[in-house]
Amino acid sequence: MHGEVPRAAEGEPGASQKASRAETIVDRRVGRILISRDEIAARVTELGEAIGRDYAGRAPVLVGVLKGAVVFMADLLRAIPTAAAMDFMAVSSYGSGTRSSGVVRLTADLSLSIEGRDVIIVEDVIDSGRTISYLRRNLATRHPRSLALCGLLDKVSRREVDVNVDYVGFVIPDEFVVGYGLDYDGRHRELPDLAVLEPVAPA
Ligand code: IMP
Ligand code: MG
Repeated sequence: MHGEVPRAAEGEPGASQKASRAETIVDRRVGRILISRDEIAARVTELGEAIGRDYAGRAPVLVGVLKGAVVFMADLLRAIPTAAAMDFMAVSSYGSGTRSSGVVRLTADLSLSIEGRDVIIVEDVIDSGRTISYLRRNLATRHPRSLALCGLLDKVSRREVDVNVDYVGFVIPDEFVVGYGLDYDGRHRELPDLAVLEPVAPA
């Protein structure tokens, strides 16, 4: 990668994991901001410049993973100072919880051919790595000229499948985050900052 990848601050050690396994959780709410909109904007600008340098004159295709990467993709596209095309794929792996099922299914495919193109997969967060390793394998069979991965967030400590992330926005701790396109059960994508989802114990 290009230079140091920023690390988001650790919260209460293990608090969210412990609570997420307890049976007493009645709800989850949006908690403290992990990464502010200004920090996101500054980092997206850096990623765009790095991609612009690496792909100068090559017009890469950005392949966004629906739906979580849409907000990031829109900002990243405008931060890349060179021509770039855009397409999307959708996969489903999560159900409605905060832990991956490990089973990945393609639910919407690209509308462009990527044969011979320089492709950059744009993902919101890499957690176990299962989604992205499935996508990488899937896209590689279509013979792109090159295939790279740009992830806004990387939960390095959660990795179960080895994946090489070429461009990383932020390395974050094992916490479930929402906002800036990321959801919990379809909610909170509209929040402009990235916040930690906190369990709410009964009163
Ligand atoms: P993986 O297959 O375990 O790497 O999971 C990646 C997918 O899980 C991402 O595309 C997200 O949809 C979802 N995911 C993982 N962690 C979070 C999170 O903290 N907030 C929201 N979605 C998440
Ligand atoms: Mg996702």
